[in-house]
Amino acid sequence: MTSVVETLPVDAEPACRPGALRIGQLGLGNVGSALAGLTHRSAAALHDHGISLETCVALVRSVSRPRPAAAWVGTVTDDPDLFFAQRLDIVVEMIGGIDPAFALVRRALDRGIPVVTANKSLVAVHGEALSDLARHRNTAFRYEASCIAGVPFIGTFERRPLASRVDGLTAILNGTSNTILTAVANGDTFAAALAEAQRRGFAEPDPTADVSGRDAAEKLTLLIRRFGQRLVAPAQIPTAGITGIHPTDLRAARALGGTLKPVAHASWTSGTLEAFVSPAFLPATHPLAGLSGATNGILIDAPLGRQCYIGPGAGPNVTAATLLDDVYEVATEPHVRTPPAIASTVTTPQWARESGWFLRIATDAPAADISQLLATYGVWTSRIECVDGCVHALTFCATPRVLRAALDAVATATRADVAGYPVLSAEEPAC
Ligand code: HSE
Repeated sequence: MTSVVETLPVDAEPACRPGALRIGQLGLGNVGSALAGLTHRSAAALHDHGISLETCVALVRSVSRPRPAAAWVGTVTDDPDLFFAQRLDIVVEMIGGIDPAFALVRRALDRGIPVVTANKSLVAVHGEALSDLARHRNTAFRYEASCIAGVPFIGTFERRPLASRVDGLTAILNGTSNTILTAVANGDTFAAALAEAQRRGFAEPDPTADVSGRDAAEKLTLLIRRFGQRLVAPAQIPTAGITGIHPTDLRAARALGGTLKPVAHASWTSGTLEAFVSPAFLPATHPLAGLSGATNGILIDAPLGRQCYIGPGAGPNVTAATLLDDVYEVATEPHVRTPPAIASTVTTPQWARESGWFLRIATDAPAADISQLLATYGVWTSRIECVDGCVHALTFCATPRVLRAALDAVATATRADVAGYPVLSAEEPAC
């Protein structure tokens, strides 16, 4: 089997400059190529900051695929043993997914090699185990680029234990979904918007992860562990994607004074963990309502007061920049290792107890009749609009169970397609 682009004896030192820190890249796809190029272009700037980096080796699935970024890498190989035969100072993982990323990252950490990753699936599922291993080997495991890549808040909070006491969070964590909803609200089709997100490198290789909410659920899982000290599995988080949103919903949301956004929410003040990923109605005054395109944001509810961080969350260049910052930090701040273990309990998240709801009832029945029927089941409308042959309404607070019963009754009575999405108020608490 051909395993290297540039043939190299297994025990040879790669062609790295003496004194340079040797990076081994796991992956040389979109993000990996952006990182190799950025590392190369940043040489002078990093030299001014006292370090010299060189990408000595990249492990890829197939060496036969043409890779322009190989020009910035000493050796490109598909052989893990050859990769680990190099003397490496830092490994950067950008393969994505669990296999083989988990085994490769574990192999690096087990040797005491610090690892930096952008892989939210890996961190969501194995973040605690890999952090434990890094602590055990007195090395670093950093994952700033795995969630809202362009806003370096995870590491900041890790090093600030008082500011990082958090009660809950509301966030837009998926740039592809936000790009699509923004574009559809402006008149584009879902398919054209998704194609544009793919072209710009925001979307996952399988964009189902984006539009189904799975990508956001993985990111929420790691935030719940980091901020809420609770271990959950991404699949346990109640999750709804954006595929059920109609263009008319976005027009109606605007008419009702807000917008629909792909939201991830978690709170743990009540003792139980409430969490969901879902499109949600945000009033125009909500701090996240104005975020468009691939912009992400996180609103943190903390005892010291609310904090909001906003910035780019997707795309190879943004992700590569944050990965390289993590590399720089690992290289220059040896005391910044993997932070102390978080006291984590295993928890099953519940959907929020109650909220207001944004409803779509695709019927031409009179709005007053719909309102009255909903009220019979304990769901009271605060505003109601007829847009494009659909009734859309905002309701006062109701539990998901009460809402479901009311919507089932409306669906039976009208034979209409019905949908309900939570309303998040600009102020807390919502209900
Ligand atoms: N597919 C992800 C997104 C990439 O659209 O947000 C960044 O994690």
